[in-house]
Amino acid sequence: MQTYSKITGTGSYLPPKRVTNQELADRLARDGIETSDAWIVERTGIRARHFAEVDTPSSELATHAARQALQAAGRSAEDVDLIIVATSTPDMVFPSTASIVQHKLGAYGCPAFDVQAVCSGFVYALTVADAMIRAGSARTALVIGAEVFSRILNFKDRTTCVLFGDGAGAVVLEASDTPGVLASDIHADGRYREILHVPGTVCGGEVLGEPLLRMDGQAVFKLAVGLLDKAARAALDKAGLTFSDVDWLVPHQANIRIMMSTARKLQLPPERVVVTVHEHGNTSAASIPLALDHAVRTGQIRAGQRVLMEGVGGGFTWGAVVVQM
Ligand code: ACO
Repeated sequence: MQTYSKITGTGSYLPPKRVTNQELADRLARDGIETSDAWIVERTGIRARHFAEVDTPSSELATHAARQALQAAGRSAEDVDLIIVATSTPDMVFPSTASIVQHKLGAYGCPAFDVQAVCSGFVYALTVADAMIRAGSARTALVIGAEVFSRILNFKDRTTCVLFGDGAGAVVLEASDTPGVLASDIHADGRYREILHVPGTVCGGEVLGEPLLRMDGQAVFKLAVGLLDKAARAALDKAGLTFSDVDWLVPHQANIRIMMSTARKLQLPPERVVVTVHEHGNTSAASIPLALDHAVRTGQIRAGQRVLMEGVGGGFTWGAVVVQM
């Protein structure tokens, strides 16, 4: 019998501190930096984001989300035989955030590693976990996206610091004899590495370069719309499906204009797009599983429905996965 991988539970976690556009604008104004709620809403759709406290690392957010996903799947930590965390804001250089999450959950012994593909990270991690389950090397995987992007924001740069937030989302992916993950399509092109990057690094105890996010927003915007469309079409093609077979689009929540423009290209009406960017901001690798969990818990996405997830991120990376819930 053919083995598939299927999402059997979802979970998410947002740090309690919610920061509205106005609160952020007031904070920036104290440093003489001008922005407004109106500008941020009009250009991005974002109204608020959550910021973690300085002593709350990605692993903490990830562990909360993972526990919720395990509970939804009716599983416990002992059942888990694979942990993949997608993050660009790991707790430390090493060990991996996944190893730390494994310890916090008490799921000792199973393989645990991080995937670093920035905002495409969750799509990449789901693709890897699906392949491992179908190959028979895991049966119950935790696939998590977790970020504390507030740590790498330059609060003197209004073109980027208003866009991002912190959070985590998780799914339990299990071996199944009924279809779950139907197809995926992932890519990277390092020629575009500098349009979205954090150039700093550590050398001999010193930080070399600036460890803060830099982005050419317009270049990202232009590239994102075309690549997302291509990846979505490729994933659907591989699954033998067309747009009309898709019940929900769960896009990376970066900017409402990118999300709606992709939906238009895919001929999906706006009411079939899951939108959380207004409340979460861009949480990078966490954004897709956060949005997925939100849609599952609010009853939008139901068992048996087909969901197309897609994202772009630094690298430049991009990809799409189509799943049957
Ligand atoms: N508040 C007020 N004014 C601002 C702000 C701000 N926060 N930021 C920029 N502006 C100003 C600019 O200085 C500029 O002023 P000027 O005309 O006097 O020079 C004006 O607003 C327009 O700036 P643009 O950069 O042209 O604005 P644009 O409409 O392109 O929107 C944005 C900028 C929102 C960043 C957009 O380009 C975008 O969404 N890009 C994609 C970003 C994205 O999706 N990133 C995530 C990728 S995933 C990942 O891996 C992290």
